[in-house]
Order: sequence, then structure tokens, then C-alpha cells
Amino acid sequence: MTDTAASTQDTPRDIIVTSALPYANGSIHLGHMVEYIQTDIWTRFQRMCGNNAVWVWADDAHGTPIMLRAQKLGIEPQALIDEMKQEHETDFVDFQLSFDNFHTTHSDENRECAELIYQRLKSAGHIATRTIEQLYDSEADMFLPDRFVLGTCPKCGTEEQYGDACENCSATYDATDLENPRSVVTDTTPVKKNSEQYFFKLDNFEAMLKEWTQGEQLQPEISNKLKEWFEDGLQDWDISRNKPYWGFEIPDAPGKYFYVWLDAPIGYMASHKHLLGSDQAEFDRHWNPDSKTELVHFIGKDIAYFHTLFWPAVLEGAGFRKPTAVHCHGFLTVNGQKMSKSRGTFIKARTYLNHLQPEYLRYYYAAKLNNKVEDIDLNLEDFAARVNSDLVGKIVNIASRCAGFITSRFDGTLASALSDESLFAESAAAGKSIAAAYDSREFSRAIREIVAQADKANQYIAEHAPWTLIKEPGNEQQVHEICTLGINLFRNLVIYLKPVLPTIATQTEAFLNNEPYNWADAEAPLLAHAVNKFKPMIKRIESEAIESMVNDSKEDLKSENALTEAATGPLADDPISSEIEFDDFAKIDLRVATIVAADHVKGADKLLQLTLDLGGEQRNVFAGIKSAYDPATLIGRQTVMVANLKPRKMRFGLSEGMVLAAGPGGSDLFVLSPDAGASAGMRVK
Ligand code: 2FM
Ligand code: ZN
Repeated sequence: MTDTAASTQDTPRDIIVTSALPYANGSIHLGHMVEYIQTDIWTRFQRMCGNNAVWVWADDAHGTPIMLRAQKLGIEPQALIDEMKQEHETDFVDFQLSFDNFHTTHSDENRECAELIYQRLKSAGHIATRTIEQLYDSEADMFLPDRFVLGTCPKCGTEEQYGDACENCSATYDATDLENPRSVVTDTTPVKKNSEQYFFKLDNFEAMLKEWTQGEQLQPEISNKLKEWFEDGLQDWDISRNKPYWGFEIPDAPGKYFYVWLDAPIGYMASHKHLLGSDQAEFDRHWNPDSKTELVHFIGKDIAYFHTLFWPAVLEGAGFRKPTAVHCHGFLTVNGQKMSKSRGTFIKARTYLNHLQPEYLRYYYAAKLNNKVEDIDLNLEDFAARVNSDLVGKIVNIASRCAGFITSRFDGTLASALSDESLFAESAAAGKSIAAAYDSREFSRAIREIVAQADKANQYIAEHAPWTLIKEPGNEQQVHEICTLGINLFRNLVIYLKPVLPTIATQTEAFLNNEPYNWADAEAPLLAHAVNKFKPMIKRIESEAIESMVNDSKEDLKSENALTEAATGPLADDPISSEIEFDDFAKIDLRVATIVAADHVKGADKLLQLTLDLGGEQRNVFAGIKSAYDPATLIGRQTVMVANLKPRKMRFGLSEGMVLAAGPGGSDLFVLSPDAGASAGMRVK
């Protein structure tokens, strides 16, 4: 946003807003809700400022996991996706998400858009066919996607690795390179089989993408990441899958289907088409290459590649407009850790709603979110403390302190003047900076500034103590004006919080006999106006409600059968591995080592290069801990390493050992350190 406040701009902006499409094979959980709440707050804010923001999205209804899950449940994929769509949509409505259309990618509109895009790409020479060798499960009679094959990493020999990349050494490879491959579907050994596939020639768009990805449509962190991806070179993208596959068959290619990730983002477009009905001219107005409409995507950092390379290239190649912005957020942790089934912190949206009001979570996420690609933590103790203190103790409290007097002493009517005009003017002026914070997705800043205004209002009321003043005759008018100011300060806080707390805003509008609030309504006070009797809009969070939610989440996931894991891979907790003999253990030579140098590795997403000192001898080790550590913070630390691991040649050089770390992964990885007093080279016993 420019200097012009969003509330005062002359021409409303046309904005199409999207959230990433949830897969139609699982329930919505609180991790998903981060993005949907972020999208909702931003969209509601834009609408309050008079912009035409339309939020369209859908269920992501295609792909092998959905096909297999339906098979295991003994139902048709259509039945599964219908059921999931209903469940998802109910969760979203109950979380007060204000989307305009929630569609499905398995729809006529999406088929039409996907076929059109494919035909246009093909005529423009952006599609190539090639015969490739893939792993085939003869028992299931299907080609196996990368994540449906487990085997031994061809680079480092680690067992139980997926067919695309090794979690241990970060090597990427083709599933056909795995040693001892095994199908996850039938637990049999797959065979190699040739088949013709269709590829999107991404490198035809290299020049456009190099420029587009460095523009202001992306966050700087993402633009930088993309530079690394360009260095690795843009690969042709396989957009086809062999039957059996749950999706759209490619028009001129019997037995070949569009890969789910081709038609998923097209689902944004198709949902919009569905919303517009037969109005093709309106659809064209928004999607033509020169459209003035903004197209704003909210996504998680894990799917940036699809949205910042493939998607703009597909749109450009097919003669459509490109996104105006792709906003990436980080992941959710709960109590500082990855969501976990056994700890009861893998919380479904519905389980949350069974125990707690949606406003609480909406507020807490808003207080945590900013416009960076950072993970956010839902600390359940802090959650209750923060909501109780800010919403109940500070904001709603202002109305509780003033409204009673208006009803009991002043016939339910506000005074015609305020006791302190400058305090109201300050509250009105704060709207500009708060608006800028919302518009740029710095919600935590918006909340900080709103709470600072609430603190000032409470301080004023406490200092002027209407409850004491009213005891002396002759003070009525002063009390009336103080309480009228209090109510107006409260009203402004509610206006500023309306994108986050829509229901509380509606209740306040009813309490104050007002029209639905727009952003600009905070500029002028409500005077000489009849109001209704006040009822508190929100209750405190009781710790018992949180405990019950956590307990129910443990139960929820116990009853989730093994199907989910079979379809998507393990969710969070690692089971203890099978037993080994003492002799196997004794072979491992663990040593204390000092990290004397640590650096990033060019072209590696997960690795850091460490130089480890073993009391004289130095080793070069590549460790997959980049997601958790800034290398500078490791230098000088002691750790424990496997010193007798056979050196492995990796793409980046020779790795001469392995560092021990614990944790589920991502930013939750902890390099083990010995107690003070240990010195480099000591053997770990
Ligand atoms: O990662 C996911 O959950 C995908 N279902 C997101 C798709 S977003 C868009 F491209 F459709
Ligand atoms: Zn490996």
C-alpha cells in the first residue's frame, strides 16, 4: 500500500484471493488453519476498506493418495471427496472464514480450464513427450509415484528412503536409482517399465521467471531461494501420470492423466469460474494477461516451488495473467514442537471447535503472524494467557466498565460530547498505521498497536474512575461523557479488530445499534445515540477446555486407522526401531568433536558443511541440519560424531563422519552436546 490509507483510496481494487487447496483425503487441522485465518483476516480487511476482494478456493481432489485411500475404505473416490468437501466446508464456516466459493478440482470448470490450458501450451510448443523408465508395481498394476517407493539411498546407503530424496544425506535421485526398492502399496518389489510421458518445458520460461521471481510479488526470502533453484537449472516438469490414476484424462492421450499438481492451481481459476457462472466476459476481464485485477495467493513455504515457477509459467504459456503476489507463511509448531499424535497436539479443526471458540485462535494467530516466511508457535499456556489478558481483560473490559452507567443512569443514550476529544482523535489517527499493517500482512504489529490503544483507554478510565465520581451529586454529565468516550474507544478497537474477530464486531454493532462497520467508521465518534444493554462478547479460556481438547486429540488419532499413514507416510512420531545386537552397537565409534568451521553448501537445501576437530585430526562432514541452525552459531560448540563411518562421496565433496542430532526435523533439530569438561577426541562410552 502507498501512503494513501486503504480506507480513503478513491478507486476500489479488484482482488482475487486464494488459499492453498487442502487435499480431499484428510481432516483439517490447526496447521492448515494458520493459512486460512491469515487469508481471511487479509480479505476481510480489504473488504472493510471498500475493495472488491473475492476469495475462491477448493478441495484438491485428485492424485494417487486419494485413489488409494478410497480403495482402502472400500468406496469410490467420488464418494470420498464429496464427504471430505462437506467436512472441510463445515469446519471453515465454523471458523468464520468468509470465502466466496469453495469448489473442488474434480469439477467441470476445472476440467474445462485444465484442458484449455494444456491445449494452448501444446500449440505454443511448451509440451514435449519422452519415454521414461519408472517403477511399476505388478501386483497393484500401477506405476508408483516417488513417495510410494521405499528403498536404500544410492548415495549413502541409508535404508527406508523415499523415491525422490534421501532424508539422511539430502541426495536427490530418481526412484529407479533406489537399491532394494519396495512398493508401499503392496510391499512387493517393483519392476522397471518404460512409458511415454508428457512434459512441460519450464526452461522455455527461464528469462521471464528470472525477472518475475525477483519482483515485489514475492518475499525476499523466497526470491533468494529461487536464485538457488535457478543455479540448479530448470528441469522439464512431468505433468502426466499413467492409469490407474484419479484425475482428468489427457484429451489426446488415452490412459494418461494430468498430474494432480497441474490441475490443482488451475482449481483457483475454476473456482472463480464457478462463482461467476456463465459470465465469460467477466471471467476474461479478470484472467486476461493485461487484467487490472490483483491475483493474490496465500500458501505455505513447502509449496513455493509450484506457485513461483510452474504456476506463473503455465499461466504465461497459456495466455493468462500471472499472480500479483504469492505470500508464503511458515509452519505451525505446538508447544514448541512439531504437532504430535501422542502428545495430543495434532489438533483437528473440529476437535478445537468442540472445546473452544474460533475467535480465540483467530486472535492468537493474528498476534503471531507477520509477512515473513517464519514458523509460528501455538503455545497452549501462552494462548490462554494472551487471549484472557488482551481480549477479556483489556478490550471487552472497557465496555464492561462504561456500558452499565449508560444504561442505568443515562437512559441508554450516549452523551453529545466526549470528556477528552484528543484521546478519541488519537484513537482515530491510529487507524492509518493499523491499516497499513493489515495490508502488508504484519498482523502482529496491527495487534500490538490495537492493544496499546486499549491500554491507553483503560488507563484513562481507571484515572477518571466514573464509579467513584458518580457517588458525588453534580458529576453526572462528566460521568456521562467519560463513559461515552470509553464506549467510543471500545468501538474503535472493535472496528480495528473486525477482520480478526468478525462475530464480536457483529455483536458490538448490535449493542451499539450501528450499521456493519467499515474501516473509516473509526474516524468519527458516536454521540447522542441510543445503545442497547451490554452483554460481554467473550468468556475467558479455562485451562480445562484446553486439557480436554488435548485429550480428545489423543483419542482422535488413536482411532485414525493405519490408512492415513499408509497413504501419506508417518505423521509425526518416530517409533523405536527394531532391536540390534550389542556387537552392532559396539562397532560405532562415537567421539566428542569441536565444530571449528561451519558453512552453507551451495545448491544444497538441507546441508551444512562442518569441519570437526577430533583433538588434532580434522574431519569434513556434511550434516542435514541447515533447517535448524545458522552455521555461525555452531562454531566453537562441541558435539558428538560417529567417527568410524566409512567416508561417503557426495555431490558436494567427501563426508567423513556423521554428527548426532535429535528431533523431528525442520527447525526442531538439536545437535547433541556433551557436558562441559569433555574434550575433543574423547570416546563416548
Ligand atoms: O500441498 C497441498 O496441500 C496441496 N493440496 C496444495 C495445492 S495448492 C494449489 F496449487 F492448488
Ligand atoms: Zn542418502
